[in-house]
Order: sequence, then C-alpha cells, then structure tokens
Amino acid sequence: MAQAKKSLVKTTKKQIARSAPRTAVKTYNNYVDGEWVPSESGEMFENINPADTRDVIGRFPLSTNEDVNAAVNAAQGAFDRWRHTPAPRRAEILFRLGEILIRNKDQFSADMTREMGKVLTEAGGDVQEAIDCTYYTAGEGRRLHGYTTPAEMPDKFAMCVRQPVGLCGLITPWNFPMAIPSWKLIPALICGNTVVIKPAEDTPLSTYNLVKACEEAGIPPGVVNLVTGHGETVGAAMTNHPALRLISFTGSTETGRLVASACAERNAICSLEMGGKNVIMVMEDADIDLAIEGSIWGAFGTSGQRCTASSRLVVHKKVYKKFVDKLVEQTKALRVGDGADPKTDVGPVINGEAVEKILSYIDIGQNEDGATLACGGKRITRGEYAHGYYLEPTVFTDARRDMRIAQEEIFGPVTTVIPANSLEDAIEIGNGVRYGLSSSIYTSNVNRAFHAMNELYTGIFYVNASTIGAEVHLPFGGTKATGNGHREAGTQVLDIFSEWKSIYVDYSGKLQRAQIDPVEV
Ligand code: UN1
Repeated sequence: MAQAKKSLVKTTKKQIARSAPRTAVKTYNNYVDGEWVPSESGEMFENINPADTRDVIGRFPLSTNEDVNAAVNAAQGAFDRWRHTPAPRRAEILFRLGEILIRNKDQFSADMTREMGKVLTEAGGDVQEAIDCTYYTAGEGRRLHGYTTPAEMPDKFAMCVRQPVGLCGLITPWNFPMAIPSWKLIPALICGNTVVIKPAEDTPLSTYNLVKACEEAGIPPGVVNLVTGHGETVGAAMTNHPALRLISFTGSTETGRLVASACAERNAICSLEMGGKNVIMVMEDADIDLAIEGSIWGAFGTSGQRCTASSRLVVHKKVYKKFVDKLVEQTKALRVGDGADPKTDVGPVINGEAVEKILSYIDIGQNEDGATLACGGKRITRGEYAHGYYLEPTVFTDARRDMRIAQEEIFGPVTTVIPANSLEDAIEIGNGVRYGLSSSIYTSNVNRAFHAMNELYTGIFYVNASTIGAEVHLPFGGTKATGNGHREAGTQVLDIFSEWKSIYVDYSGKLQRAQIDPVEV
C-alpha cells in the first residue's frame, strides 16, 4: 500500500496561534508510561479532513527522537510485569477492550471517516475488523499452543513453547487506521510483548481512540505507548532503536525496504506488509453482472486505497466488450462525495500528494502507455468539492500487461482492464507483476477455479468474489514485493510476535548424547 503521506500542515506553536483559535481545535497528546503527554518539541501537526480541508480535526504531537526514547523506556519498564502476567489474564483485559470498541463503534467510525475519508459503512467495517481481531486474538490467550514431541533418547521429554519477543515497534498506515493497528497491537499484547505504536500522520485519531480504549480496558501503564509524528523522525527513530527487538511495518514497498535494511543492520526482527497490484480474472463462463459488481467494489471501495484493491481486471476476449460496456456505465453512476454522507459511494482520497500521484498515473496511462481512458480521469473541484481531495472513478481499457498502469501500484480510484485470450493467458498476466497480495477469478467452472487457485502466486485468492474483504482468522499477507514471508492475522501472526523455545528435559539421571549414543531396542 501507499506510503504514509506527510501532506499535513506542519504547525509550529507560532503558526497555531496565528491560525484558528486554539480552543476551537482539540489538542491530543502522546501516551507514554500511562500518561498523556505532549512532545518534548512542543510542536504539533494538524489532522485534516480530506473531504473538506477547512475542517481541522485535531492537533497531534510532532514527536522527536527523545519522545521515542521515552516511549521505549516505558515499554522496557513494563515488559517484565506484562510477560509474567498469565496469557489468559492478558486475554481477559483484551476481551474488555473488545467490549469498549463495540460500545464506541459509531463514534470511532465517524472519527475515522472524518480523518481518512472512507465512507461511513466502510469505516464501520474497519472498526469491526479491529473488534473481530481483538476477540479472535484474545481467545489465543487460552491457547498459544506449543507442542510436545517424542525425544530421541529414553527418559527424556521434548517440547516447544512460545515466548514474547520483547519490545515491539509498530508503524501503521492511514488506509485502515484502526484495523491494521489492531492486527499488530493485539497479537503483540497477547504474546506478552510491550509496544510503541506510531500511526500514519494522516490518521492519528483512530489509533488514539484504540489506545485510549486500551487504557480504559486496564492495560497497565507502559505496555502500550503511542507516539505521533513523521516517518522520517519517529518512524526512523523506532526502526533504529536498539531496544526494539521487532519492527512491524505496513506501508509502501519502497519504505518497507528502508525499514528492512535498518533492521538487518542491527539484527532486529522485521515484518513487512507492502504493495499490491491485484488481479480479478473474468472468464467467458462467468456471471458477468456479479463480476462487474465485484470489480467495482474491489476497485473503488475505500477509493481504491487498499493494498488489496482490484487494480487490474483481466477479461476473456469473448466477454470483453460486454464487460467493459457495463463496467464503464456503472462506474459513471458512482456518487463521489463526503464519506459522511450516506448517499456517497466513493469518498475523497487521503491528501493532496495522493491526488498528484494518482493524476500523474492517469496522465501516464493516456500519454505514455496509450491505454483508452474509458471514464473518469479528472479531479473534481466544482462547488462543494472545491475543498476536498475528490477524483472521478477512473477506468482504463484496452490496456496491455506491460503498461505502467498495469504494473505499478496507483493506490487510488483507478482500475485497468486488460483483455486475455484464455485462462492460461489470464494466469500469466495475473502473475506478471512484482507484487503478490490478492487475486481472484470469476468462473462457473470448478476445474478452472481450482486450477487458477493453484497457479496464482499470491497470499490471498478468491473465487467468484473480489480481491478485497479478507477475514481476521485467516493469514493475511503476500508474496514477492508485497512482503517478507510473514503473515498477519490468523494464528500465523503469533509466529511474528513470539519466538519459539525448544525445551529438553532429561530425567534419566545420566549423560545421554543425542545423535551419538546408541539406543537399545
Ligand atoms: C489493506 O488493503 O491494506 O481485505 C488491508 C481487505 C481488508 C483489509 C485490507 N480486510 O480488503
């Protein structure tokens, strides 16, 4: 997914005094060692509503290295007590957190729409995903299974158990501002780790809401610490901090590489979830109306700002014209607007930089790649749209697999239709990108569905459904440039946030040399 943008106005104290009266806009603090504290810099940045940039949601600490050090010290101080708290007891607190999230779902969803732009129902889905993750993962507090296994020697017992990794740094993106922090935070906590979390600059309020709920649930001081600010300062300070044993990052592939090399330098565990260029393959035997519905949902849901977005639609040539005609007609009918308006289908994109990037890809599609711009393509600035980051839902058709718009992650309401000659051709196109997150096939032929399922080299695959909509109890992540082999969600996430300890108990009372001493039968 796209890198967190730092489009927000960086305000110094002086600038704040000159702009809107301070009382009108709420000021938020970092959360360090159970206290809500300002940054030592005294500086703040603004959280702006992308649907109307005149709406300043709040001012958040522009934190520094020192703030990160204080948060890491707090996490260090709390670690022993938390890791010694039995996991079922940690789970009880997390179940309480789940209840608090349910109770506040409407408010948290409204806050999210206001800071991120996604339509209210989708913001509700985002909060729901955090609730689901919390309940599912809290349940692991009574499992966290290791296993026993026979030992090679007589009178010897062998088993392995999970142990917390230690202090974890969590760096999260703006597109799922509560779900993705929860995917990292809750498993880290159930495994007995303490954390420092840095939300994207564009969406600090949703993480603030999550951390505030952690406080209310009774998570002890220092276990969860929140530090807001820029990636270049706070993110970098976390990535390079020698006491943070693990960095979990979701964001762009480019930033992810920087995070990975910094972690490699100091031998820290690094878990990455990055870009996607996901494909829906529509076969000639598909239910075309269903495929179009799924394509529109996958391409334009969250204004295309999902790492799972359906940014490539590979359509069998026999149904290509029919598919394209209907797709374009239905895309034109989508209502763009403020996500808080229940009539809106597609909200704004996150910020001005995103607008520029997406428009530059639309220009590349038309002028460099030579694809057909079938609909959309422009920023909307008339009337009430003037103050927001609105773009027309955009469809490119007659594209080729090697075009830049068919290869690079655009992360906006833009999708590209590519004709295919056969299932094999579609599979080759589907696999022909550097990413490997999600893929899908629409077909009524079960043999084809299973064949494609086996051949698509992605972490997630759907049959007769869009590329978006992953559920929290299955592993989430991707191959190739999408990740580094880890999976979030499911029980697989426990392998990120715990380390295995193998234990041998020799009760023979004598020296037994494995691999050397003969064992009598
Ligand atoms: C993302 O796109 O960054 O599967 C996460 C989905 C959501 C999560 C998306 N449950 O689309």
